Amino acid sequence: MSFQKKNKKNSYEFNCPKDFQHLAVIMDGNGRWAKNKGWPRYFGHFRGVKALRQMVKSCSRMGIPYLTVFAFSTENWKRSSIEISVIMKLMRRALTRYKEELNRNQIRLRVLGNLEELNSSVRDIFNEMMEQTKNNQGLQLIVAVNYGGKREIIEAVKILSKKIEKGDMKIEDINEGSFSQYLSSSAFPPPDMIIRTGAVSRISNFYLWSAAYSEIYVSPVLWPDFNEEELIRALEFYTGTHRRFGAAPEEEGSK
Ligand code: FPP
Repeated sequence: MSFQKKNKKNSYEFNCPKDFQHLAVIMDGNGRWAKNKGWPRYFGHFRGVKALRQMVKSCSRMGIPYLTVFAFSTENWKRSSIEISVIMKLMRRALTRYKEELNRNQIRLRVLGNLEELNSSVRDIFNEMMEQTKNNQGLQLIVAVNYGGKREIIEAVKILSKKIEKGDMKIEDINEGSFSQYLSSSAFPPPDMIIRTGAVSRISNFYLWSAAYSEIYVSPVLWPDFNEEELIRALEFYTGTHRRFGAAPEEEGSK
């Protein structure tokens, strides 16, 4: 894996290695960013969308195949109705505004989570954009919205239990492989790395199953300030790690 500085735009070229498939991001720190400036929390979310746009552009240019962003968790419903409404409006507005940009850059939008419980105007734009971008061959942008890892696992257990109840499957047939195919995240490769911004080192109910061997990178930077330079820092952290998936250490230099 290598980086080289671009001459013209003073931005970086990242040669994504074949084995790096999926970057996932917990975009934390919007509220604190705004508070530090004496502004209302929603200002942080507003700037968070700007940071997200930059992140999507960078990942797309770097050739990273999958990017998941945790936009709204099943726990985020505990926030004030005003804040929830701001986040929903921002998502709707961003998807509407960047429609062309997604298509122009061959980005395919996907969703992880339950859209049914969202306001129809937000649900509709997500569905519309998934449909409109379904043939795009570039970056797959997965928006985790109304998503929770525990809920995802419970939903899979329910499907499996029904199969057993109907006699279509035996308990003995349950194993990691047969179980995981009922998880909605099985549509994507497991995240190679999860970046969490805002200096918080929690997984917060994100990708509970498929993050089993993900590298975790905690950045002190609050999400609205997370730029391409910070992304490169995170990717450099990844390149310095040795993923062993529980196996014993191999020779020096193995990855
Ligand atoms: C976490 O910061 C941020 C969120 C819960 C919302 C992030 C959502 C967006 C930026 C909109 C994304 C838009 C699309 C189209 C996907 P926080 O409020 O928890 O920050 P704090 O830890 O400082 O309180």
